[in-house]
Amino acid sequence: MNVLVIGNGGREHAIIAALAKSPSVDKIYCMKGNAGIAQLAECVDVDYCNLEAVGDWVDAHTDVEYTVIAPDDPLALGLADELEKRGHRVFGPNKRAAEIESSKAFAKMLMKKYGIPTAAYEIFDDYEQALRYIEKSKFPLVLKADGLALGKGVLICENLQQATDGLQQIMCDKAFGAAGNKIVIEEYLTGKEFTPGEEVSVLTFTDGKTIVPMIPSCDHKRAMDGDRGLNTGGMGTFTPCPFYTEEIAQEVKDKILLPTVRAMNAEGRPFKGVLYFGLMRTPDGMKVVEYNARFGDPETQVVLPMLKTDLMEIFQAITDERLADIKIEWEEGACVCVILASGGYPQKYAKGKSITIGELDQDILLYHAGTTNENGILKTSGGRVLGVCAKGKTVKEAREKAYRNAEKISFEGMQYRKDIGIKYNAEE
Ligand code: AMP
Ligand code: GLY
Repeated sequence: MNVLVIGNGGREHAIIAALAKSPSVDKIYCMKGNAGIAQLAECVDVDYCNLEAVGDWVDAHTDVEYTVIAPDDPLALGLADELEKRGHRVFGPNKRAAEIESSKAFAKMLMKKYGIPTAAYEIFDDYEQALRYIEKSKFPLVLKADGLALGKGVLICENLQQATDGLQQIMCDKAFGAAGNKIVIEEYLTGKEFTPGEEVSVLTFTDGKTIVPMIPSCDHKRAMDGDRGLNTGGMGTFTPCPFYTEEIAQEVKDKILLPTVRAMNAEGRPFKGVLYFGLMRTPDGMKVVEYNARFGDPETQVVLPMLKTDLMEIFQAITDERLADIKIEWEEGACVCVILASGGYPQKYAKGKSITIGELDQDILLYHAGTTNENGILKTSGGRVLGVCAKGKTVKEAREKAYRNAEKISFEGMQYRKDIGIKYNAEE
């Protein structure tokens, strides 16, 4: 079978690497891809947010039997609906189901209505009303632009001044565009004794009836060591997550995963695809920080390398709503991904820097994100450039190996966090 994968980052490279191992997959196309993906797939230069153009391309390529939509924006725009309408088989939720990510106001309403644990909140579409609300609020509090904002639409405000500025930025200056037409104002969640709560990402396969959680992973969202600096798309990940015990996994399944899938069904928005739960451990139990309607990036880069089952078989089972019939198995051990980013990311950064890669250990998984091949020379083309992933018996072993190899890669301005995989793993 020939498959099309939509997207162009490290997550898509990891998905394509897993699909390339499937005995049922012959040829892979990627729209638009990058220099690393080009080694495994034929890259197609079509704007994947132009639904009509993607639909026409898939119609014309009759050899393509299945399309995987990985990024949030085409899902939010309704690319799955467009392709299904034209009679194609697709992996990814439709537009109404993807709203669980593309509207934070909808996600919060869903959790409140169905009793799914999350931070208390209010929603406003009027600036004056929102301002009056924060003037009476306790701090810290969290402001969230309702729509998609590249992971940057969340502001944690320590005091009234910061909250007033944040409100101005999101609702008046439209720093995140139309995503800020509505705002969610949320209680600030913490762990024990007001320390930051531990966070875990639980990506789950679901066909709307059955839910199969993948192995848990932990992201590092801030740009700098020690979780300082600006929020980014994610600077590195590791799996497994030491605090995520069997007991917590059961609590999460019973109180969060299953109720969410049932709630989406009850709302007439059955969710088929990967539902991502961003969770925080609080003194009152596990709570939802965010939902995503897709695989996480860079969580996928550490989760999929541990998958023993054929990913294409899982995708097909989800499309056909027979996920309950297949057994999904994982390797034992750990995996760590260190993101190498362009200097300045997540703010302004330069592109077009030549990348040199020394001799890496054979079993290193090097996932490309923002790379391009310019006449045979590998160059940077994005904020997050490469993900260096290593497996090991423990997170410590995997981390040391990932860093040993990251040091053999360089480009002008290259920056990366030196502490990926250290948090929550102090006992090692
Ligand atoms: P999000 O984009 O919604 O995942 O938010 C980005 C990060 O902000 C999360 O990973 C948390 O670290 C933090 N965050 C978001 N919402 C809250 C909250 N209600 N309380 C505390 N921290 C939060
Ligand atoms: N790593 C977080 C996300 O994919 O949104």
